This record gives sequence, C-alpha cells and structure tokens, in this order.
Amino acid sequence: MLASEATIPATDEGLIRGDGVFEVIRLYEGRPFALDRHLARLERSAANLRLPLDLEAVRADAWRLLAQAGPDPEHDLLRIIVTRGGRRLLLTEPMPPNPEIVRLASVTYSPTRILDGIKSLSYGANMLAGRLARERGFDEALLVTPHGRVLEAPTSSIFYVRDGELFTPPLDEHILASITRAIVIQATAAPERGCTLDELLDADEAFLASTTREVQAISAVDERTFDAPGPITARTAEVVEALVREQLEAETAEQLGADTR
Ligand SMILES: Cc1ncc(COP(=O)(O)O)c(C=O)c1O
Repeated sequence: MLASEATIPATDEGLIRGDGVFEVIRLYEGRPFALDRHLARLERSAANLRLPLDLEAVRADAWRLLAQAGPDPEHDLLRIIVTRGGRRLLLTEPMPPNPEIVRLASVTYSPTRILDGIKSLSYGANMLAGRLARERGFDEALLVTPHGRVLEAPTSSIFYVRDGELFTPPLDEHILASITRAIVIQATAAPERGCTLDELLDADEAFLASTTREVQAISAVDERTFDAPGPITARTAEVVEALVREQLEAETAEQLGADTR
C-alpha cells in the first residue's frame, strides 16, 4: 500500500499524545544497514516507555516490506513506528535532501529527562528547534542547554575537533544513543567530552552524524564560520563510509546464510 494512503485510528494515543516509539533505518540498494541495532534500540525504547512490543512481528514486517520495495531509490529509508494504540507502521521513504554542508543556529533546549533512552514519537520540540533555526536563515538547529552545554542536533549527533583531536558530547548529557555516533566512535576512537557553546565556537571543525546524513560537515554555528569539510571531517567521512560498507556486506552475508539455513 502507498504510505500516503495508510491510516491509523484518530483515537490512537501515538497520534494524540506522541506516545510511541520509532526508528529510521538506512537502505543501501534495498539492503537495511544495522537493522539489528535499530531493532535493539526500538526494544529498549519500548521497554523504557512501558510500551508492549512484539519485536519478532516488527522484524517479519520489515523483511516483508523490504522484499516488496526492492532496490529502488524511492526506498532509501525504512521507518518503523509503534504506537500506544498497538499499531505497527512500517514505511519506506526517499532520502530527504542532504546538502554536503550544514549551517547551524544554536537553540536553547532542555532534554526531557524522563524520556532518556527512548526514541519516542514526541519530537515536536526537536522539529520546532529546526524551524526556529530556519527562521533565522540557518539550515538546522544546534541544541544547547540553558547552561550553554552543547547536546546534539534535533535528528543527529555532533562531533567537533579541538587541537587536532575529535570529540563528541557524552551520552550522560541526555542525548540519543545514536547508532551512527557509535560507528564514528568505532571508526575513529573519538572520546566523549562535554563541550560548551563557546568551546564549540572555538573548535577547528565540526560535523553532524546520523543514519540519513552519515557524516555532514558543519560550515557555520551562529555567526562563526568553519572551512568545511575540514581535513579531519573529510577523513572521518571516508573511514565511516568504508566501515558502513564493510558492516553492510557482513550483515547481508549473514542474512543470506540465515535465509538458506
Ligand atoms: C535526537 C537525535 N540524535 C541523534 C540521532 C542520530 O541517530 P542515528 O545515528 O541512530 O540515526 C537522531 C536520529 O534520528 C536523533 O533523533
């Protein structure tokens, strides 16, 4: 069925209250990347939200949908949504436009502590932050606490370079345990280090990381501009792309083995 024709009951609390969980998975020529890691995060999110979830039913739905979708550029992403009303929605989507560089405007933001460890459907605040940034003529928001600590962007993690070394804010700043962030750390051994907005403005380079962006160079934060991509960002983009390819091949081989067993 076309995603635009799918419906859910208006009474579903997933819609009414944003009470539910979701994941977005990248498809490379129809093959899902890090599906098990996304399903594991979906399971953790649901458990933390006290949301019943039949993970094996989600997995079966995902493979059924991917078999129908095939390697079509219209199907770059797989979105999985599970609602309080007990619905499972699985949609494929094309990639959103992703320019090579991004300009960020800082927006004051306090993470909702109770939602720690939950990729919940309550994304209104994140979407508003992006809209406020675009109203100011930027591409995306940089979420910064009222005390000036750099967190992440509304749908991506941030890395920054100071004195030639790559860092990322720690998960205990109540940011999402991003799967791409973990891959960048695996590829570069970048340590976690908290960062104020002033320190970021003083950094040499910075980039965003997410499922859809992979590594995306930051060319401005507020009035501060960066040469983008800087050398460490460009190198990281290459090694991350190679690691993603390598892991994708291994996952595909494993899946083929499982299918023929
Ligand atoms: C708040 C937030 N941070 C970071 C990310 C990046 O996470 P991932 O790498 O798992 O896509 C996302 C993804 O949607 C997000 O919503």
